[in-house]
Amino acid sequence: MGTKSLCLFIASALIAYYIYTPLPENFQDRWKLMLITAEFRTVGHLAGFVEWLGLMHYMEALMLITVVEYVPPTSDENVTVTDTEFSNVPVRLYLPRKQSSGLKRGMVYFHGGGWCVGGTGMKAYDLLSRKTADQLNAVVVSVDYRLAPKYHFPVQFEDAYSVTKFFLQSSVLSQYGVDPNRICVAGDSAGGNLAAAVAQQLLDDPEVKTKLKVQALLYPALQTLDLNLPSYQDNENKPILSKSLMIRFWSEYFTTDSSLREAMASNRHVPAESSHLFQFVNWSNLLPDELKKDHVYTSPVYGSSSLGKKYPGFLDPRAAPLLAEDAKLRGLPLTYVLTCEHDVLRDDGVMYVSRLREAGVQVVHSHAEDAFHGALLFVSSLGDLAVGHRLSNQYMKWLNDNL
Ligand SMILES: *[C@@H]1O[C@H](CO)[C@@H](O)[C@H](O)[C@H]1NC(C)=O
Ligand SMILES: *[C@@H]1O[C@H](CO)[C@@H](O)[C@H](O)[C@H]1NC(C)=O
Repeated sequence: MGTKSLCLFIASALIAYYIYTPLPENFQDRWKLMLITAEFRTVGHLAGFVEWLGLMHYMEALMLITVVEYVPPTSDENVTVTDTEFSNVPVRLYLPRKQSSGLKRGMVYFHGGGWCVGGTGMKAYDLLSRKTADQLNAVVVSVDYRLAPKYHFPVQFEDAYSVTKFFLQSSVLSQYGVDPNRICVAGDSAGGNLAAAVAQQLLDDPEVKTKLKVQALLYPALQTLDLNLPSYQDNENKPILSKSLMIRFWSEYFTTDSSLREAMASNRHVPAESSHLFQFVNWSNLLPDELKKDHVYTSPVYGSSSLGKKYPGFLDPRAAPLLAEDAKLRGLPLTYVLTCEHDVLRDDGVMYVSRLREAGVQVVHSHAEDAFHGALLFVSSLGDLAVGHRLSNQYMKWLNDNL
């Protein structure tokens, strides 16, 4: 073998090694998914590298995915799309154009991206909102809330909340021809977190008269207390969202100070004064046996109280909706929760389903055995996967039957 072919052989072996990811048996489109995973991993490595060089914050570098995926607001024959502002927060608005008798449905949608990246203009989100507007005859308000690391909690939540509150005013609903009895909030991942938090806070707001008909939470992040749940352990390195990236997202939501991230990574960030909150995320009671598998529940290990004092946000139900009291949960509307088996956030969603049901809320829980975090978005530019189409169609059908 000549030197050239030896180099070629080594290079191909390294590339194959880099791209190859062991995937669960039941995943479809395996090679496509490996390429997608390698792409995301590469962006993560590059972001880590430029941060290490001191050129950019990690999240600013990750934001490049959002920038590359950007599409301008473009109307088509069925939906009018415009970028505008509601209550001084940028939103992308989707208005169905087809002739219909009667009022339309309404949806406020929050995109995912760990409170740090993502945007309404990402092709995958644009497509989802456009499809929702067209297929459900719904006015969709997709919210460009401000992001970390520039802005921290509660800014993201407050932007999400003020847009929703603005939209729910009866004068605004009638301006857009929306039926006040057929409105929902929805979101995926960090957006599911915002949707759940917004739905809870609306219950106590004396200024809001319109009630939500449903909330739809797609693999939502719902708590920061226990970052070592069985799903975090089982799915530490599954496609798209690793445990370490999720911890980075959580900590950046509150601060760029790395001491919170380090404490979260060792799951010793909650001060003993907050021990009463652990009952709300006690997976020993809240998870079904098939998800507990052979994991053994251990009591929480507490951290220093200074972190909790400096960044009280991570103990706030507006950031961690699973920490709400039962009395609060009781008022919530019909809820759709999608969870994916191979997702670090799986148990957040499953525990919320348990708590909502115990509080008497009607919940439809769709659990995808063959899916990973973010799967519902993979129907076009990010990657075109059968599982993405299936989950997205299921979600749309549920909304069509229930909203
Ligand atoms: C508009 O709606 C029609 C009828 O439902 C459909 O056939 C067509 O593909 C839609 N156009 C776009 C751009 O989605
Ligand atoms: C969690 O639940 C288990 C089983 O019911 C119980 O033994 C344990 O004390 C609970 N832990 C906390 C912190 O609530």
